[in-house]
Amino acid sequence: MSSKVKLGIFDSGIGGLSVANFLIDRYPAVETWYLADSLFLPYGTKAEHLVKDRVAKLMRFFSSGNFTHVICACNTAYALAGDIIDGTPDLRVSNVTQALIHTLPTHINLGKSLLVATPNTIKSGIYQKYLGRIHGLDNIHISANSTLVELIEEPGDNRESIYHEILEIAHNCSFKPETVILGCTHYNWVVGEFQKVFPRAIIYDSRGAFEFSDFDQNSSGNDGKLRFFDTGQSEHLQELVENKYHRTVEHLSLEDSSLIQDINQS
Ligand code: DGL
Repeated sequence: MSSKVKLGIFDSGIGGLSVANFLIDRYPAVETWYLADSLFLPYGTKAEHLVKDRVAKLMRFFSSGNFTHVICACNTAYALAGDIIDGTPDLRVSNVTQALIHTLPTHINLGKSLLVATPNTIKSGIYQKYLGRIHGLDNIHISANSTLVELIEEPGDNRESIYHEILEIAHNCSFKPETVILGCTHYNWVVGEFQKVFPRAIIYDSRGAFEFSDFDQNSSGNDGKLRFFDTGQSEHLQELVENKYHRTVEHLSLEDSSLIQDINQS
């Protein structure tokens, strides 16, 4: 007997929405919910115990909400609270960090590579651990950056500042990378800017990193709609989502779900 898929995707802000966009294009019939924990954005520079506590609350929300699958679309959350995410019972959980690593070729050398991610992700060593196992760490320049997330979340058109921030990253890199690995889902929105700064590099981002063989046959009737929750209830975020998501978005407020109230209780 097949059961209906109910997919939850989460991130601290709009980073994971780039993953949600891709998944809904691929599986429009799947009931998909997106949870942005904007009240606690950014995760990239927060104390580890705070991020762990938030993630535990988000996972409780998904567990008690009859979700079948959850995607952690936040590298930082997985880097700091992977044990909590993976240990959540009765849910099929996936995470963007391992999914992105799996998209990297294993049979060819990546050459000189640049890894960019948030300070917490870099500090955790999660990418270094996986990359080291497959490719070694001799040819990798590692850049911990918190400014890009801030710029990407800011209202208005910040393309110019984003471009300059990436130029700064390039200046601090001791070589011209052949491969650039974007270890933060926010950067998925500015792949074009990365490509402008590194025109010859192959850029790996996590937008299309997920595939689920059981999604099509087990689901029906969602028609590309995204159910969107934002713990910070920010109007600006709602606007960003409207601009970036081109199908129907149903904005759900905290009051719409007694489940979500738990998330914001201290
Ligand atoms: N999008 C998140 C990630 O992939 C990080 C954003 C933040 O600092 O909250 O790591």
